[in-house]
Amino acid sequence: MFQLGSLLLPSNVFCAPLAGCSDLPFRRMLARYRPGLMYCEMVKMDALVRHDPSTYRLLDYEIGMHPIGAQLCGSKPELAGECARIVEGLGFDVIDLNCGCPVDKVTKDGSGSGLLKMPEKIGEIVANMVAAVKIPVTVKVRAGWDSASIVAPEITKIVEEAGAKAICVHGRTRAQGYRGPADWEYIRAAKEAAKEILVIGNGDILRPIDAERMQKETGCDAVLLARGTMGQPWLIEDIYRHFSGLDPLERSAIHYRDVMLEHFEHILSYQTPRRALLDFRRVGCWFLRNGRGVRHLREAINRSLSIEEALGHIAAYPWEEVDFSPQESLALDGV
Ligand SMILES: Cc1cc2nc3c(=O)[nH]c(=O)nc-3n(C[C@H](O)[C@H](O)[C@H](O)COP(=O)(O)O)c2cc1C
Repeated sequence: MFQLGSLLLPSNVFCAPLAGCSDLPFRRMLARYRPGLMYCEMVKMDALVRHDPSTYRLLDYEIGMHPIGAQLCGSKPELAGECARIVEGLGFDVIDLNCGCPVDKVTKDGSGSGLLKMPEKIGEIVANMVAAVKIPVTVKVRAGWDSASIVAPEITKIVEEAGAKAICVHGRTRAQGYRGPADWEYIRAAKEAAKEILVIGNGDILRPIDAERMQKETGCDAVLLARGTMGQPWLIEDIYRHFSGLDPLERSAIHYRDVMLEHFEHILSYQTPRRALLDFRRVGCWFLRNGRGVRHLREAINRSLSIEEALGHIAAYPWEEVDFSPQESLALDGV
């Protein structure tokens, strides 16, 4: 068990907000493996206070997904309290502030990683969120805007002062985007700057051993999985087994197929057929990205013009010729 403010969480292995990916079907898959906490995709503060229906849809969740967090993206301290109250009213367990999104469209009004240039403003936003709700407030940052302006340790102190219960540090700068490895040294520096606030380490946890190394090398209190769970939702379970000293479970090609089909079923039950087909292509690529002998299937799913056609290709594929045995390096392309 893991204490976050007043909340008792089942573990310290968390699942990240992933815009365009951590939707309800994705989170149903995560819930199967009982992460300590999972986050929905980020939502814009402006859209939330406008009661924009598509924004509310991003916050759909089911009982089995608790403990669950919502993440706000925005830079207006005057909206932060109201947004936090809305999220709490929807039944969320945790509320997070996004200070990491690198997309120009988001940073240009000072939101996402744009906030890294204004640490004091982050403090103001967080203080307003904390004052408005009883649930724990967390903050997710990148290390800094670029390597010449590392602010994660400074922001750790500011948000601790403002009442946040945890800060998640993604060990990349905004300038880095998703290129190159995350530098976990930035996470260690944030942990050193922290008094009581918990530090969550994030970046490049793709295997159980990465979670162990992250904790050892940075002293972080919890880990946040992101791309590693895309097409591999069982990474959570694999990490639990690793920390319990159990042997890894063997994940056969048939296992990959069955879990992928389970994810597809959740997509079908939640999306329109048109949207479901697009999601099949995207999600199919995740599941198949590290297999040998799956290129034809990936291409066939991508070319499919209907759900039935895509499912037909999967059913007819010679799965006995596919190999998912672990490789030295795991691909993240297609993600
Ligand atoms: C497709 C995609 C969408 C993301 N969306 C969000 C988001 O909504 N909020 C957020 O704080 N981070 C977001 N991130 C960043 C991840 O949460 C995480 O910090 C980052 O991927 C580093 O972890 P990893 O190396 O384990 O993937 C996103 C990342 C990806 C690849």
